[in-house]
Amino acid sequence: MKRIRKESWLISENEVTPEPVFWNRRRVLAAGGGLIAAGAAAAVIRGRIPMGPMPAAAAIRAGGPGTVLDPQPLLNPKFADAGRMVTDEEINSTYNNFYEFGSHKKIAEASMALDTTGWTVAIDGMVETPFEIGMEDLLKQIDLEERIYRHRCVEAWSMVVPWIGFPLSKLMALAKPLSGAKYVRFETFHDPMVARGQRQHWYPWPYVEGVTMAEAENDLSLMVVGAYGKVLPQQFGAPMRLHLPWKYGFKSIKSIKKVTFTDERPVSFWEDLAVQEYGFWANVNPAVAHPRWSQAQERVLGTDKRVPTVRFNGYGAEVAHLYDGLEAEFADRLWR
Ligand code: MTE
Repeated sequence: MKRIRKESWLISENEVTPEPVFWNRRRVLAAGGGLIAAGAAAAVIRGRIPMGPMPAAAAIRAGGPGTVLDPQPLLNPKFADAGRMVTDEEINSTYNNFYEFGSHKKIAEASMALDTTGWTVAIDGMVETPFEIGMEDLLKQIDLEERIYRHRCVEAWSMVVPWIGFPLSKLMALAKPLSGAKYVRFETFHDPMVARGQRQHWYPWPYVEGVTMAEAENDLSLMVVGAYGKVLPQQFGAPMRLHLPWKYGFKSIKSIKKVTFTDERPVSFWEDLAVQEYGFWANVNPAVAHPRWSQAQERVLGTDKRVPTVRFNGYGAEVAHLYDGLEAEFADRLWR
């Protein structure tokens, strides 16, 4: 009898959403009523009532964070099943890392202070012509899709999130980088009046992250503008964040204001703060412990399970080739 190989990032059968339930949930999400009810419940948590359903770009313009999207962007079948239960929205929206609003997990309420109305993103550095673009204009030019990704934090917890967004490569196509560009650098807003965490002067604000051009072009690299069928709520990094599911979560920078193409390797927020603990690459690797704790296992939020962590968070088939020939690069940095 043929044995079915169990992927090592899968957790036991009863922890995975049964498929009919999952698809039923999708259908419920597609029906406005269920969404509004779900949205209203979430709004109680966030202290804000979202508006009714509306198309994606219009919702982002008029409704702001938390607005229900209808029609829902299509679920990309390639990323329809993360092999684990989607983390409950209530858990995900009340357990966040967003140091701009505090160095603890309960930043959801404080993050409501971030006004994303009229948000623009600057595209600069080694591009044909630098420009600044409003979210509304950007989303008129790019179709949205839904993808369900595993999300593994360097703190050894993980979630599964139904993101709405578009491949970073589509933004790169608009940016038209010059051939000499080697890295993409991302920068978060800087406004200590709004984000009290940014008054803590020992942090190197603004938050910065970076990837190589090859990493940025990889199909997995997602620019996120929504989650759980809604315009991205503030605590998730409204109005637009990155998600790189094969890297530790700190690479997935929130509330992006600037995207710069450069030939210099960017120094990230955490690398700047503690280079002995956080490196540029930050690919999920259970074999390399953080100096203060093991990365061999992860706590799956919303369950009572600890599961083995898997190299590249289980996305090796998509990304392992990006690092071929770079062994010397990693020899002293231990893939950090
Ligand atoms: N981006 C900004 N601007 N500020 C942050 O503090 N935290 C990072 C990342 N992006 C962070 C950020 C970390 S450590 C993680 S694990 C993820 O966001 C958390 O994303 P989540 O709150 O959606 O789970």
